[in-house]
Amino acid sequence: MNITTCIFDLDGVIVDTAKYHFLAWKRLAREQFNRDFSIHDNEQLKGVSRVESLNILLRICEQDVPENVKLLLADLKNKWYVEYIKKITPDEILPGVLKFLEELKSQKLKIALASASKNARLLLDRIELTNMFDCIVDGTVVTRAKPDPEVFLKCAEDLDMEPEGCVVFEDAIAGIEAAHAGNMYAVGVGDRHILYKADMVISSFKEINIDSILNLPNLKKYE
Ligand code: BG6
Ligand code: MG
Repeated sequence: MNITTCIFDLDGVIVDTAKYHFLAWKRLAREQFNRDFSIHDNEQLKGVSRVESLNILLRICEQDVPENVKLLLADLKNKWYVEYIKKITPDEILPGVLKFLEELKSQKLKIALASASKNARLLLDRIELTNMFDCIVDGTVVTRAKPDPEVFLKCAEDLDMEPEGCVVFEDAIAGIEAAHAGNMYAVGVGDRHILYKADMVISSFKEINIDSILNLPNLKKYE
């Protein structure tokens, strides 16, 4: 099957917002529980929804809080996170991303955005990329978190494309698993030791061009 569509995760793939999520979670752990939250702990939160991220943080900080307090804590973290991303500019788009997106567009491939974040549209507006995407599916729409393939399958459905012709770009293990669960190819963006389940791993978009993607069907698909 020919590749027709490229689906991009947002946080950690198009822009390095993982650092801002981390700073906000770290502040929450420090101010609310007087606990440290390390960059290593933060790996577990990548690609995970806001509420589930909070649950993981509470486990790490050995805290048990009622559901109504969880909502307040999640809102507080989000308030701080939004303060960071409101200051983001297009300069923070990761290296090689813009050139790659423009290349895909010029070759008439469809481009979709699939993110667990409820702040995805705000962020896309800040980096002035909203109009680049043929379809945007974000945390305000999906009900099942990665590794469930819902967010990616919804992109394929909205664009009227077959999942087998889609390539997903992801920085999270859960996202690679979700792509495969949806019968799509997965390109890992980041560390190949962490993202070893992907069909191909890049450390930056400067390393690939459209030919690398069109050759993907020659690779063995993950079972
Ligand atoms: C994902 C991030 O894209 O979105 C996670 O990788 C984040 O770290 C999740 O928790 C939800 O984001 P938000 O903006 O809705 O809190
Ligand atoms: Mg991500």
